[in-house]
Amino acid sequence: MIERSMTDRTTARRLAAESVAAGEPTAWFETLYAAAEQGEAVVPWADLEPNPFLVRWAAAGRATGHGRAIVIGCGLGDDAEYLAGLGYAVVAFDVAPTAVAAARRRFPSSEVDYRVADLLDLPPDWIGAFDFVLEVYTVQVLLDEARRTAIANSAALVGPGGTLLVLARARDEDGDPGQMPWPLTRAEIDAFAADGLSPIAVDEVLDDEDPPVRRWVAEFHRS
Ligand SMILES: C[S@@+](CC[C@H](N)C(=O)[O-])C[C@H]1O[C@@H](n2cnc3c(N)ncnc32)[C@H](O)[C@@H]1O
Repeated sequence: MIERSMTDRTTARRLAAESVAAGEPTAWFETLYAAAEQGEAVVPWADLEPNPFLVRWAAAGRATGHGRAIVIGCGLGDDAEYLAGLGYAVVAFDVAPTAVAAARRRFPSSEVDYRVADLLDLPPDWIGAFDFVLEVYTVQVLLDEARRTAIANSAALVGPGGTLLVLARARDEDGDPGQMPWPLTRAEIDAFAADGLSPIAVDEVLDDEDPPVRRWVAEFHRS
């Protein structure tokens, strides 16, 4: 069973670096989740609770709770379960089969449709099919072409009248991206709007970590 993590990124960073160097930008996620299942690694993003910025956004009345929602890179399923609780019919997917299996096991009576799928190679019938798309911290663990494709494909999931909410770490255009997770610039956030989406609100906020981390809370709409 994957435990709540204490944000030790050592193993994740090593696996990410090896995977990127081998030209397989998404291979390390399954390796990490599988090692965590064996108690040999931690999943640094496994908070085992819904993202507080998502909860705050919904509490401000921004979530309709109607229609189909999709959660990108759903990990262990907490955000997907939260959206299902708001009333959405939720599909949640992750490239790592062990993460999807763990989410199904954690929420055995869930109404969420958990799937193994790749944001970089989406099922064609998902394009433009969702009223609400949630992207939390997936783009920031991808680089280069995979990162650009992930941004474009996140936007492509949004159907007519739909909303995309992006949560990500933030950095300046000329800031050092450092090690994984690699924060997004304002230009990268703006790129979510390239395919016919309009920005509704793009806020840069500080979280309550010590020291505080800069994050984007960005909402887009397709008319
Ligand atoms: C940093 S974690 C964030 C997980 C979750 N969204 C959260 O906030 O806790 C990124 C997640 O995206 C998944 N992921 C990475 N690349 C992906 C891809 N191309 N398609 C689907 N999922 C992907 C990883 O397996 C991992 O679960």
